[in-house]
Amino acid sequence: MIGVFDSGVGGMTVAKAIEDLCPQLPLIYFGDLARSPYGSKSSEVITTCCCRNIDFLIQQGATVVVIACNSAAATAAETLRRQYTLPIIDVVTATVEKAAMASTAGRIGIIGTRATIRSKIYEARLTTVRPACRIASQACPLLVPLVEEDWLGKQETKMILRRYLYPLHQHQIDTLILGCTHYPLLGDLIQARIGKKVRLVDSSAEAARHLKEFLDKNPEIGSNMTEHERQSRFFVSDSTGPVQRLADRIFGRPIYLEKVDV
Ligand code: DGL
Repeated sequence: MIGVFDSGVGGMTVAKAIEDLCPQLPLIYFGDLARSPYGSKSSEVITTCCCRNIDFLIQQGATVVVIACNSAAATAAETLRRQYTLPIIDVVTATVEKAAMASTAGRIGIIGTRATIRSKIYEARLTTVRPACRIASQACPLLVPLVEEDWLGKQETKMILRRYLYPLHQHQIDTLILGCTHYPLLGDLIQARIGKKVRLVDSSAEAARHLKEFLDKNPEIGSNMTEHERQSRFFVSDSTGPVQRLADRIFGRPIYLEKVDV
């Protein structure tokens, strides 16, 4: 089974993109809402949370794990790959490939949590694949709580977005990486504020594409499932009303969130 985790509901944008690309593939999702947001935490704490999440997903039958969180991928992916033998797909790798190809003038913006921006992972990877590109990044720590509160259409959210995106405007970027899996939920608001000429690269969609490529090359994964494993399950370490509404909205159907102590 495919295990997917995030600090909260943001990773459900990855899970939905996987469902759209591979409809026959059930998932085990874990949203660590009791410890969200990860993006404002230290590398040590984020890594500890990731290990706990992966252990839980393995216990539930995961044989591949998707880190559906940029903060976790940027901080811990390499350590986790050394520690676990199962394949680990992360949101950053495929996003870098896509952004490097999509940018016409090589002026690329990145928005993400503090942890993702602090790691400089996108800068390092982008300059490896496209050495001449110019990169501007912006940490947006208020966006994850706004999304988790379901404040998507509020004036305050629009105002904060304008403030965060203004410096990237100044850099005349032609491509903007949505370097947090919560941000596709703000995609239309971001596009309207950064301008329609700027191409948005969505890390959730890219992670799903990367997983599909991996599964196409490894068809044995995902076969031989027991009857019990043929259904997606969604676990959370805490649950609130806004989060339930968002989960239902992302999938376009009621999602049963199972609360677990992880
Ligand atoms: N969706 C996570 C990400 O992609 C959110 C991080 C957080 O919890 O701060 O970075």
